[in-house]
Amino acid sequence: MDQFLITGTGRISGEVTISGAKNAALPLLAAMILAETPTTLHNVPSLQDVTTLIKLISGMGIVISKEGNTVTCNTKTIDSFYAPYDLVKTMRASILVLGPLLARFGEAEVSLPGGCAIGSRPVDQHLQAFEAMGAEIIVENGYVKAKAPKGGKLIGCEYSFDMVTVGGTENVIMAAALAKGTTRLENCAREPEVVDLANMLVAMGAKIDGIGTANMTIEGVESLHGCEYSVVPDRIETGSYLAGALMTEGDVLTKHTRPELLLPVLKKFEAMGAVITTGEDWIRAQMKGRPLPVDIRTQPHPGFPTDMQAQLMAVCCLADGTSTIIENIFENRYMHVPELERMGANIKVDGHTAIVKGVEKFEAAPVMATDLRASMSLVMAAATAEGKSLIDRIYHIDRGYEDVENKLRGLGVKIERVSNKD
Ligand code: EPZ
Repeated sequence: MDQFLITGTGRISGEVTISGAKNAALPLLAAMILAETPTTLHNVPSLQDVTTLIKLISGMGIVISKEGNTVTCNTKTIDSFYAPYDLVKTMRASILVLGPLLARFGEAEVSLPGGCAIGSRPVDQHLQAFEAMGAEIIVENGYVKAKAPKGGKLIGCEYSFDMVTVGGTENVIMAAALAKGTTRLENCAREPEVVDLANMLVAMGAKIDGIGTANMTIEGVESLHGCEYSVVPDRIETGSYLAGALMTEGDVLTKHTRPELLLPVLKKFEAMGAVITTGEDWIRAQMKGRPLPVDIRTQPHPGFPTDMQAQLMAVCCLADGTSTIIENIFENRYMHVPELERMGANIKVDGHTAIVKGVEKFEAAPVMATDLRASMSLVMAAATAEGKSLIDRIYHIDRGYEDVENKLRGLGVKIERVSNKD
């Protein structure tokens, strides 16, 4: 299993080019299934999760391939509507093929994604919405078997999500795009990646009102055509690298990104004492002295994103004072805490709340990555500590950060990938 050997240099500074967003690329790839004619998608990040989803889609007989950061897809030869457990278990967002298959072909058999390190990750909201659209849903032997009503078309409905769910909103708007009649959704997710998906569906001929708001109205159309589209920049990757500047009195310029995608994060960085300057497609964070403590509670967009919680905790660990973090989205998203404590952090967790007492610096130590975003918080902490840190199980980081070693080297981080025998 690969590990990262990081020698702390105490400074994270330089320029980094941001990739397309993993959490937009995945639903956009699933949406390609809806198109009757070929689709081209640009700025697709080269990530393990993207490779897995492309493999799953091509397993259905669809011709889909990736050249560099461009994916082309032609659904003409599709001959199966099946998403197997062995692929879905490694990439739970595969559940996003369910809505498109059900809407266009009237049937689908998709493995239940199961949980992951940060929580049980149920998909009940997705399934309840499909039932409200007339689908017959049977869950057995770990698979969701879905069938559209007689006539093969889903029926537009009124549905309000019990809680804000990014994947649930994405799955349902993809299905509603081809349903008979109008679908009115309430309590939708408003994340930039949901907006990106809705915009691509419109480019394919879908009729969607209320994009970016909690209430969307989708008027079903007969069919959707292909389009040429580009994935929105990754706001979480952007925030992850900018956080490195706050931890080391650094100066980080992130390019090929958009400030409006992560305003709640930039506001917190400024509250911690960073000087943030922005342009249309760049953001710069400059830091003097230690970060100031802050209080954070993760919320659905436009609140503070849960996907930045671990990275911001690493900054809080070095703050001149005590910070409070409340994780409201996932039930188990503090797996990075014991690892940060091994590096000298002072954190007390009580249920959803973490109290972080700032320390002067992290100490180098061997640690283990537990999930995607936790891995980046450990990498940043190791980059600030004196000495060598070994980070195990870094396959987590390969799922969501494109070309991570070279980007970190470009910011002055001394990092090399080593593999241990087991
Ligand atoms: C997406 O996951 C992201 N993944 C996650 O990013 C992100 O943390 C999350 O949204 C929240 O922003 C992708 O987009 C691929 P949810 P998703 O449905 O859609 C509960 C990362 O690090 N829920 O918004 O699975 C659920 O348990 C990853 O890049 C139900 O109870 O998240 C959670 O507590 C991690 N029933 C909350 O809602 C459902 O049917 C939010 O989940 C659906 C969700």
